[in-house]
Amino acid sequence: MALVRADGFETATLDGGPTAKTPSTINFTSEAFDKGEYAHFMRKEIAEQPEAVGRTLSGRLEPRFQTTHLGGIELAAHELLDIRRVKILGCGSAYIAGCIGAHLIEQLARLPAHAEPASEFRYRNPVIERDTLYLAVSQSGETFDTLAAVQEVKRKGGRVLGIVNVVGSTIARECGRGIYLHAGPEIAVVSTKTFTCTAVALALLAIQLGRIRDLSTADGGRLLAGLAALPEQIDGIVAREPEIARLAEQLVACEHAYFVGRSAGYAVAMEGALKLKEVSYLHAEAYSAAELKHGPLALISPETPTVVVIPRDDLYQKNISTIAEIRARRGPVVAVTHAGEMPAPVDAMFDVPASEPEFDPILLNIPLQLLAYHVALKKGCDIDKPRNLAKSVTVE
Ligand code: F6R
Repeated sequence: MALVRADGFETATLDGGPTAKTPSTINFTSEAFDKGEYAHFMRKEIAEQPEAVGRTLSGRLEPRFQTTHLGGIELAAHELLDIRRVKILGCGSAYIAGCIGAHLIEQLARLPAHAEPASEFRYRNPVIERDTLYLAVSQSGETFDTLAAVQEVKRKGGRVLGIVNVVGSTIARECGRGIYLHAGPEIAVVSTKTFTCTAVALALLAIQLGRIRDLSTADGGRLLAGLAALPEQIDGIVAREPEIARLAEQLVACEHAYFVGRSAGYAVAMEGALKLKEVSYLHAEAYSAAELKHGPLALISPETPTVVVIPRDDLYQKNISTIAEIRARRGPVVAVTHAGEMPAPVDAMFDVPASEPEFDPILLNIPLQLLAYHVALKKGCDIDKPRNLAKSVTVE
């Protein structure tokens, strides 16, 4: 319990026993808690992403050695070198951002990396390994299942770092070290800017782990430049909101939608589907594009549009084949991809600027946030407080 007066404060336990707390200053302005010119906090937080990403990156790029530096992880180079595996734990969007991070770590540091919902992990009597680095990802730092997973890792002697937005939150304190996102307060129930900042924080870690191993200086420099370009690129995508609002018309009248992608693009599809179902109550399901033909193709019809996430990567042609499979069943296709001619006809398309390919998932997700927002807006939903959802899930 806390009693706050203009000239001071007192804290106590619920039984009234006085406690001693040390004040710490958090650098937020009151505008951070105000919608300002925006109709919804979700929309404001989408617009805040360039600045938020800038803060996640701030002071962490080390161009001299073409690497990154994350002081808060408190691990020396030799300890980072001893890591043999990375396990990322979180819930909801935090878990999905972890999937993008796991992919980056595996690609850049060539370490086996895997993300798992914290709720599943904590209950399956997990094997904890000494040379695995466990990462707990959470915006609020209060999610009960993620906290319980951290405690399970620690109880079994594992090493766990927090990737958290809220400074001084329970998970941050329980981990004791890690990476703060510095995304600023996120008020909308659905996570947008912290999802992006989490993916960026994991990219920073992936580069640091990679540069200690086999990632070359040239690749390090290329990736640093790619990260530094992200804020402006995100800004450019958000400025094209009217195009995305038109795309939303493809989805607003339907009851079901698929989101598909491959590899890291699959994680983008998962996040796009989650955002859409949360704010617009439309039934959206994410599927790995290659798995469509093993069952879900049965549900493709003119009434069920599919959003296909198509980075211009090694799997580009395979994604184009997926589009053909869907259209052969008369399913409408909305493509989210990079600029350039699409070798397959689609019903609607949005292109994001080219970045370093490793960061494609971060950019390809931004239009999907705005897509969910505009579908919800057209349906008149309570965007900042979707039914049945809470910002922090502090219960099991
Ligand atoms: C989705 C969303 C939730 C949270 C999840 C974890 O938009 O906001 O899925 O990501 O409840 O919350 P944190 O990150 O606070 O642990």
